[in-house]
Amino acid sequence: MKQSLTRRNALCFGAATSALTALPALADTTPSSMALPLKDLAAAKGLRFGTAIGMRMLADPRVRELTIRECNIIVPENELKLYVTHNNGPTEYNFKPADELLAFAETNHMAMRGHNLFWARDEYTPKWLKEYKFSSKAEAEKLLRDYIAAVAQHYGERLTSWDVVNETIDPKSGEVRENAFSRVLGMDTLRIAFEAAREHMPKMQLVYNDYMSWEAGNENHRKGVLKLLHWFRDNKVPIDALGVQSHIGNGFDLMAGQVNQWKDFLDEVVSLDLDLLITEFDVDDQTIPTSDIDKRDAIVATVGRLYLDQMFSYTQTKDVLCWGMDDKYSWLQGFTPRKDGLPLRPTPFDADFKPKPLYDAIAAAFKSAPER
Ligand code: XIL
Repeated sequence: MKQSLTRRNALCFGAATSALTALPALADTTPSSMALPLKDLAAAKGLRFGTAIGMRMLADPRVRELTIRECNIIVPENELKLYVTHNNGPTEYNFKPADELLAFAETNHMAMRGHNLFWARDEYTPKWLKEYKFSSKAEAEKLLRDYIAAVAQHYGERLTSWDVVNETIDPKSGEVRENAFSRVLGMDTLRIAFEAAREHMPKMQLVYNDYMSWEAGNENHRKGVLKLLHWFRDNKVPIDALGVQSHIGNGFDLMAGQVNQWKDFLDEVVSLDLDLLITEFDVDDQTIPTSDIDKRDAIVATVGRLYLDQMFSYTQTKDVLCWGMDDKYSWLQGFTPRKDGLPLRPTPFDADFKPKPLYDAIAAAFKSAPER
């Protein structure tokens, strides 16, 4: 018989590898009174709380209202990616959508982080850049530096933090992926990107962001990211933090969290004197084998709470951003649809913008988090 596991003993559990397979199926499903917004609960412990938001969501007054009430930091979902800002050739820039998001943030006294300067994967790189015939290393380096200088010139330090490089580790092999710049510059691509960001935005928090996660199946991804972080340190690359995307369950069995292996991973990250950010939190219920909404919501909340408790036990974790606050606009609806065709329920608010047990789980995790 499966052993039931409380949150506390899940975290302390000696040799548990997939501790979450033994989860009780029920979380506290009491509807939240929402007495205090999440940003206030977070602030009481020295954390910030926020969400990704895109232009489609910004157009919906319910999203705007929810975001203003609950968040003190936002991040553009797509609007600062190369394929929006710099999609039409080396001399053309389009900052308009991201500018609108920044105006929304500033009007409502929210911080904004930048995502991302370089998504180091060919499938997300503009065609012109993938096909660019660099005549020399120097030319590739100049193009990369000029691009980062242009972004920095436009935004200065109005943002608080940037994902300088996103997802450069191949999750299966743990090796550094090839990309438009690395085919010419090799590992120097990563060094140059961080150096240029530091040069033009000296006070900015500079982040490496990736989706290595705590589920079984992420072992090589975690190893590869640790190797990269050591390489950054050994080569004096100016980096301040690891962005832990925290798409938990995405592509994996949601119940296969490896609490102890995850602790080892985080211990090693912070031993390199790096801060931690939860940059893209959502809890994918794609593989939960029941269509029952209450059960799914309870499991999502329980797993989410276990995860946040562990992340918050590190005082290096300062920011928590969901990748969308509501199920209506969650990217996962299209990315990892359920076999039974039912909409996913991976965020704190349902498609009618009502809070779900995951909302209460986040609130409770903030309340029990140590101060930082
Ligand atoms: C996703 C967006 O949510 C989608 O709208 C877009 O089509 C693809 O990108 N990791 C990241 C984010 O770093 O940029 C991704 O965002 C989700 C996974």
